[in-house]
Amino acid sequence: MSLVQWSDDLKTGVCGVDCQHKALIRMLSGLYSIAEKSQDREVVSEAASLLADFVVEHFQCEEKTMRDIVYPAYESHKKQHDEFACKVAEIVQHFDESGDNGSLTTSVQSYMVPWLIEHFTKTDKEMAGFIAGGPSGKAA
Ligand SMILES: [Fe+2]
Ligand SMILES: [Fe+2]
Repeated sequence: MSLVQWSDDLKTGVCGVDCQHKALIRMLSGLYSIAEKSQDREVVSEAASLLADFVVEHFQCEEKTMRDIVYPAYESHKKQHDEFACKVAEIVQHFDESGDNGSLTTSVQSYMVPWLIEHFTKTDKEMAGFIAGGPSGKAA
């Protein structure tokens, strides 16, 4: 049983966004199980760095989309991204310095997964509603 699995409740309905969200969920579960099982610090560190890089890449894609559509809540959405990306970078750095697998799995389970699920289902869904046809989410 993996830490977290994709479900339709997480769907925003925007294909490119959902594809990347699915990949993030897979990478988070992968990192969690690697950190649980592997004592090889380099292997864990690489998985953590790959996830952190993909988080940034995903946020940049969404931010470009929001700028393209002149999304009114761009600033507050981007602020959430910046805070999370910064925290993830700190978590990775802490692991690189400490090699503490337990602290990493706790951060993944107690912070990263809940944050992303909340962000997908609220903030990203609001953006998706706007993409679909304005603030009400209905096509004009
Ligand atoms: Fe997203
Ligand atoms: Fe987002």
